[in-house]
Amino acid sequence: ADPMAVENEEDFWLQVCGRTSAIKAAQLGLKTVCIDKRGPPGGTCLNVGCIPSKAMLQSSALYHEAKITFESRGIMGAGNLSCDFSKMMENKNAAVKKLTGGIEGLFKRDKVKYLKGFGKLTGPNSVTVALNDGGEETITAKNIMLATGSEIIEKLPFVEVDEEQIVSSTGALALTKVPEKMVVIGGGVIGLELGSVYERLGAKVTVVEFLPTIGGIGIDGEVSKEMQKILKKQGISFKMSTKVTAVEKSGSTVKVTTEPAAGGDAETMDADVVLVCVGRREYRDGLGTEALGIEMEGKKIKVDDTFKTSVPNIYAIGDIIHGPMLAHKAEDEGAMVAEYLATGKHPHLDYNNVPSVLYTHPEVAWVGKTEEMLKQEGVEYRKGKFAFAANGRSIANMDTDGFVKVLSCKKTDKLLGVHIINAIAGDIISGACIGIEYGAASEDLARVCMAHPTVSEVLKGAAQKTAFGKAVSG
Ligand code: FAD
Ligand code: NAI
Repeated sequence: ADPMAVENEEDFWLQVCGRTSAIKAAQLGLKTVCIDKRGPPGGTCLNVGCIPSKAMLQSSALYHEAKITFESRGIMGAGNLSCDFSKMMENKNAAVKKLTGGIEGLFKRDKVKYLKGFGKLTGPNSVTVALNDGGEETITAKNIMLATGSEIIEKLPFVEVDEEQIVSSTGALALTKVPEKMVVIGGGVIGLELGSVYERLGAKVTVVEFLPTIGGIGIDGEVSKEMQKILKKQGISFKMSTKVTAVEKSGSTVKVTTEPAAGGDAETMDADVVLVCVGRREYRDGLGTEALGIEMEGKKIKVDDTFKTSVPNIYAIGDIIHGPMLAHKAEDEGAMVAEYLATGKHPHLDYNNVPSVLYTHPEVAWVGKTEEMLKQEGVEYRKGKFAFAANGRSIANMDTDGFVKVLSCKKTDKLLGVHIINAIAGDIISGACIGIEYGAASEDLARVCMAHPTVSEVLKGAAQKTAFGKAVSG
């Protein structure tokens, strides 16, 4: 039989983060269909999220680094560097195209049928797809997995996103020139990442944040404060504890009116581009979950520990269920559903051990508990902190911003949380994830032989401080 043919009783995926889990399901022998209305596969992450934003972050960071630090390193001529923005955008688009094309290739290789169209649940075992190219296709499936992700929140009623002058992250990743002035509404992950991109490329960036802290949900207070200092030094302005009360277009300018969150005098700023990034909402529009009686917990689809919804053969993963809205979390969940369905095995994800990374320069990465959480939970803890300014490799690299903070249980020394600010924090945090996953103590980390001279040695230094009260150096 043609393995690509749609027949009854196949296992079926309604866009999973999806790529990974659809492929995993197919590799495990399930007959798999993946549906996405977007067209190119890979969801938010590959098309308008992780990948394009990181392409922009990398190019803008190199440009900035070269301009600001090369001459002080003895590499002369960098003062004359200029930025070809359209070339940067072309490279970003090429990276997205290569990856989404690659996924289509993997779908073919592993015999995942890929349907481009809008899927609606029309029964516990059926989905009707309005195909992008016209027509409809109904699929009957033994199991269905929902991974319809998220969209930006436009919860500011007076802001209308046009994706040109007033943009979401999607528009910010597709600008045609670097704005002179950019106002960012929301100092969370997207605001700091994309704000940094445009600040490095020459825009005057002002971040307006409702809270007194930056970095969004779950960031450690001390880390947030230090990061704000570093970003301020780089040139980003912050209006903290401030709310936006109006955003109005006036020709090529956008006027942004703000007020202190606690009340006070209004102020108006002009911008060429306003980036709205005040969070994302679960996307279930037109999916048909209500009609099937799929239970919710708040705005999230309720699932059990095998990602089963209240309709037993329908599963859900990613941004539409509990937990952080992160690609690696969605990916692991999707792969677990595939494994569960194909093998009956019951793998699990420790939600306390899902790392978060902010890809600014330096990066911010953390896993486990923050000091604020531990205090709130009444957990007594030890804390060891080691600065990169005392690390040989960081000094040699002329990149000494940041620190590692290791938190462990006061009584047992079990690792509870690790927080890092560093140029490669997102890579270093993996060591901490492995430690926490396997129940390590800070002393275990402190006794691991780590290569010298490396930036990661600071993780060991901070763990030594946590475990022994002192580090050998620093
Ligand atoms: P999504 O990736 O959102 O995929 C859902 C897909 O379903 C979409 O393509 C949508 O078109 C499709 N769809 C929805 N409804 C239907 C329907 N009814 N029929 C057919 N198709 C439908 N996370 C990280 O971990 N690291 C990062 O660096 C990072 N950077 C990000 C940068 C930006 C700018 C943004 C916006 C997000 C970023 N994220 C990052 C978050 C990450 O992209 C999401 O957490 C992840 O993509 C969620 O995966 P998902 O499978 O739940 O949904
Ligand atoms: P966010 O939740 O990270 O930050 C939103 C910020 O906006 C918060 O600090 C909040 O206090 C502030 N805010 C809310 N309402 C406001 C208002 N009216 N005025 C001013 N400030 C206001 O959300 P963001 O940045 O939109 O990102 C959405 C999600 O996308 C993230 O939570 C994350 O899950 C994902 N993402 C992950 C990335 C990564 O892992 N590196 C990168 C980009 C996005």
